[in-house]
Amino acid sequence: MSKKQKKYDNPFAATYKGISDLFKKQERVGVLSLDDRLDGKRILITGSSSGLGLATATQLAKLGAEVIMAVRSGIPEKGEEVKKKSGSEKIHMLHVDLSDFDSIKELIDEVKTTFGKIDILICNAAIVSKKARKTKHGLEEMFSVNYLAKFVLVNLLLKEDCFNKEDDDLPRIIFVSSESHRNPDGFEWDTFGEFKDYGMGKSVERYGYYKLLMTTFAQELSRRLNPNQQPKYSVFALCPGPVNSNIAREAPAIFQPLLKIVFGIFFRSPEKASEPVVYLTASKDVEGKATDYLFLMSRKDVDEKAISVENGTKLWHMSEDLLQKTGIEL
Ligand SMILES: NC(=O)c1ccc[n+]([C@@H]2O[C@H](COP(=O)([O-])OP(=O)(O)OC[C@H]3O[C@@H](n4cnc5c(N)ncnc54)[C@H](OP(=O)(O)O)[C@@H]3O)[C@@H](O)[C@H]2O)c1
Repeated sequence: MSKKQKKYDNPFAATYKGISDLFKKQERVGVLSLDDRLDGKRILITGSSSGLGLATATQLAKLGAEVIMAVRSGIPEKGEEVKKKSGSEKIHMLHVDLSDFDSIKELIDEVKTTFGKIDILICNAAIVSKKARKTKHGLEEMFSVNYLAKFVLVNLLLKEDCFNKEDDDLPRIIFVSSESHRNPDGFEWDTFGEFKDYGMGKSVERYGYYKLLMTTFAQELSRRLNPNQQPKYSVFALCPGPVNSNIAREAPAIFQPLLKIVFGIFFRSPEKASEPVVYLTASKDVEGKATDYLFLMSRKDVDEKAISVENGTKLWHMSEDLLQKTGIEL
């Protein structure tokens, strides 16, 4: 890939790219209609204690959904906030730390025993960490939270038969990705899953790479769940564009005041930025589709590296092997 195409190598370049994209003309996919209600739908959404996830949980509750907020923090106050803002009482909160696979298993047990089935899963949680940190499983935290946790969560929910397949509407699995998934030159197969040290200067680059892993997983998941051209699950992904959230919470303290100003002026509010997530969750326009990807409200192909069947298959096998080596049973 030429140097010119590298736009997410550092926080400044990524911020500039995010802002400049907002000013480009986009062809809109559509809008939610009054029929696009979510009454009777049960939705599990991760990372809904903050930013985009919190705003999305509120919008979905307003559309009539029963929302299970799977969060690391904010119990019960963030749930109370969603209830107040949406006017809905159908809000539940479950604890999960996505860097801890035992915690993911506990979440799934609770979903199964308390709720039985879910109709829609939204994998929203992610971090931009200022440096490499080890999880209790010895894996790098951003790799784990932003990619491998999704692989574990989705596969265990499928294994435990937690998706409602009785409805006319297909179950939907939605990944909040980022256009930065296009940034990496390729996959680091030789060192896949190994702990790699990095500091703030490389964190945005690592973030883009983990978004590539997640987006490639989403494509492979859709192929595996929908083998015979007859979709059984919708697997969607999207980039919400720049969001005025807490994503840069680990940026150096000296930059925080500047970031606050830039985010406040140029980045979109979480409510506005949640539009593509809410659209892919609720719209009848995408009903029956096996896969889709939106950048803001326009439809795009994901990066060709993520579409590649070879990459998808390899990633799947390497993720399974890594989990086995780490002692995590799927
Ligand atoms: N902000 C942007 O400009 C932008 C652009 C493109 C894509 N995105 C994507 O949008 C999604 C939402 O991010 P955001 O911008 O709303 O950031 P945010 O405000 O920082 O929210 C991130 C959420 O992830 C949760 N989380 C982080 N680590 C976790 C863990 N180990 N276990 C469980 N939950 C964890 C956080 O929980 P706590 O509150 O407990 O920390 C928080 O609820 C992410 O996937 C992000 O990559 C954001």
